[in-house]
Amino acid sequence: MFETLTPPKPDAILAQMAPYKDDTRVDKMNLGIGVYMNDRGETIILDSVKTAEKRLLDEEKTKTYVGLAGDLGYNQAMKAIVFGEDAVSNDRINGIQAPGGSGALRVLAELMGRMRPNARVWLSGPTWPNHYALLKTGQVEIGEYPYFDPETCTVNFEAMTAKLRTLGPDDVVVLHGCCHNPTGANLTNAQWDEVAQIAAETGFLPFFDIAYQGFGDGLEADAYGVRKFADTVKEMLVAVSCSKNFGIYRDRVGCAFAMGADAKTTNVAYAHLQNIGRGIYSMPPDHGAAVVRIIWEDAELRQQWKNELDAMCERMLSLRTQLAEGFRKQSGGNRFDFIAEHRGMFSLLGLTPEQVERLKTEFGIYIIGDSRFNIAGMQEANVERFVQAVLAVSSDA
Ligand code: LMR
Repeated sequence: MFETLTPPKPDAILAQMAPYKDDTRVDKMNLGIGVYMNDRGETIILDSVKTAEKRLLDEEKTKTYVGLAGDLGYNQAMKAIVFGEDAVSNDRINGIQAPGGSGALRVLAELMGRMRPNARVWLSGPTWPNHYALLKTGQVEIGEYPYFDPETCTVNFEAMTAKLRTLGPDDVVVLHGCCHNPTGANLTNAQWDEVAQIAAETGFLPFFDIAYQGFGDGLEADAYGVRKFADTVKEMLVAVSCSKNFGIYRDRVGCAFAMGADAKTTNVAYAHLQNIGRGIYSMPPDHGAAVVRIIWEDAELRQQWKNELDAMCERMLSLRTQLAEGFRKQSGGNRFDFIAEHRGMFSLLGLTPEQVERLKTEFGIYIIGDSRFNIAGMQEANVERFVQAVLAVSSDA
């Protein structure tokens, strides 16, 4: 029967990993997959995480199942991180631990399918490619709303809001909570206010994906959009990932939140989330979520984690400035100034697939085919060489 299968399309992001590994050039650069690296190109384990892991190893008494909702202390911690400390007692918001942000997206997509089987799901143009696979469920249709303007490298807010105003209660709009992937172009707070207002007026269901909280302008600032919506609309879904901000990628730690009009309906949604998880993976994994809980519940460890997160964020901001300055200096123009304005791990360079290919073959620089590059993969010593290579392959050469 396997002969009926044809090979699937390679994943646009993961396809880079093997050729990079096999590349023998010593000066190759890995700016593809969204993983934070320090200035030595290493993805280290945060000190706060290491300490919490040691504590967990000492204190853990059993490996029995934790339950369908996962680690309840972890879920409370995530509620505080995403929605704010004041929201912890808000009984309109409840969520389950999920296997990574992707697992959270998937269970929430299933919930959406149960609530609105004929929904139209709107993704930003462009978006993280895996959104298409993770959010396709049942009969739902997937479309794009205008988001990025490649000319200005900013959000095309007029086109975006014009589209959103045409939507209604059968529409679901996926919003990147911060650090837009792949563009790096984000809404201002005033724009978040306006989009939240449109959601309240039209009744579309907001579906947030917040996977990079703390990587843009800081932990609190990056939550502005989600919190604004929570204060403005009646219902929303929020998928959260701890992969990046806790650096626990392989432990698969995420959270799926539902916010309903009242506690009663939220509780029913919460029961569905558990029921959906049971039907896909049964029980969530424990280790990473327990680590996050330990960090959050210990004032000293929490502060240490926040400091480590701020340091990662500052390094990315500094690299953004260095890159924009480097491009100005070497090209004499301002075409790449947007890199300093963008936030998060990524920016789209605006190169063609052929130019991206040349970066790889001629310079050993690996970025994604749509010209997304990962700022956090850059080492300061490589900034100049990267700038020269991009200018060499682009029309500014
Ligand atoms: C990325 O966009 O590179 C990350 O979210 C990792 C992934 O799984 O695609």
